[in-house]
Amino acid sequence: MAHLESRKHISPDSGFPITLHPNFNPKIKDYVPPDPIREEFHPDKDRASFADPEKKALFSIAKRVDLTELIGTRLENIQLSQLSPQQLDELALLVAERGVVFFRDQDLTTEGQVKLFEHYGTLDRHPAQKDQRHVIIRGSREDHREILKYTPWPSGEWHADTSFEINPPSYSLLRMEEHPPVGGDTAWVSQYGLYDALSDAMKKFVDGLHAVHTSRLQYDTILDLWGTGPNRPPIDTHHPAVRTHPVTGLKALNVNTGFVTGFAELKKQESDKLLEFFAYHIHSADDHYVRWKWTVGAVAMWDNRCVVHRVIPGTYEAPRKGIRTTVFGEKPYFDPNSESRNERAKQEKESMINGENGATDGQTQTPA
Ligand SMILES: [Fe+2]
Repeated sequence: MAHLESRKHISPDSGFPITLHPNFNPKIKDYVPPDPIREEFHPDKDRASFADPEKKALFSIAKRVDLTELIGTRLENIQLSQLSPQQLDELALLVAERGVVFFRDQDLTTEGQVKLFEHYGTLDRHPAQKDQRHVIIRGSREDHREILKYTPWPSGEWHADTSFEINPPSYSLLRMEEHPPVGGDTAWVSQYGLYDALSDAMKKFVDGLHAVHTSRLQYDTILDLWGTGPNRPPIDTHHPAVRTHPVTGLKALNVNTGFVTGFAELKKQESDKLLEFFAYHIHSADDHYVRWKWTVGAVAMWDNRCVVHRVIPGTYEAPRKGIRTTVFGEKPYFDPNSESRNERAKQEKESMINGENGATDGQTQTPA
């Protein structure tokens, strides 16, 4: 926080820093990003689409422990470094269904992690990422509530990784190399669940909206607070506020408090109030929430298309260092014929009661 430009401009009356407009902050105003804005591209078909819906190869060795009813599974008795391509596909499908999958005591190296993740597609690059293939994730010891007075990005908020990209990431994998004994947990919330928790009237309303995902606020904050230069200029992207998952076919809310600043179809006050509601909706969703206590060698793999996450801020002294890899996903889309997780479960139940075969095909038979 000491690096913030506003720290150099103290109010003589209050004694507190004065917030600066980005255009008058030399760190932001004078910076020219080296790379252009990314163009849309079409990634290869998601590896989870090739998986056996029953995941027999994966579960022939792995023991499954669901951490909550609706999100989060821990797999035991496996080393990610030893998985076959078939098992990796099945793992991706499990991640797409459960939102996030955890592992402990992994022997994976950074090289191994990069190689493993290349199985899932083209590696993404975070705007502040120096290495082309992975980003180093540190802890969060700053006072987010205080920082937010002087720099605009709510960095401690719920987000899907770089959701402002035209092709936002699908899968992310974070492997912890150094970690304090307590503090620094990460939490995830299911976007399938957040959609299901809305009323039918609200679902209909939100189905037709576009959420404004922006990197503008992060851009300013990276330059001022982190003191590093973003690779690319800031962008606003209008993504469907509800997206259809390309593998499970399920609807997921596509709104997060970290990058979404409003809704394209709404007027300002309408937009602000709706965003305020979603902030409450995400923060209060304990029934769609899972929290992970890290240990050295632990790994989490999640699907940014159906979960949001945040690191829990703390005051711990010991270093925290994680290696994250991500791959590009498809440009988010909304299929009005897709269904929510609860709707599918209800239909499958009714089909069974009616004596019909409720199963369809491998890609859509995925109640999580
Ligand atoms: Fe993240």
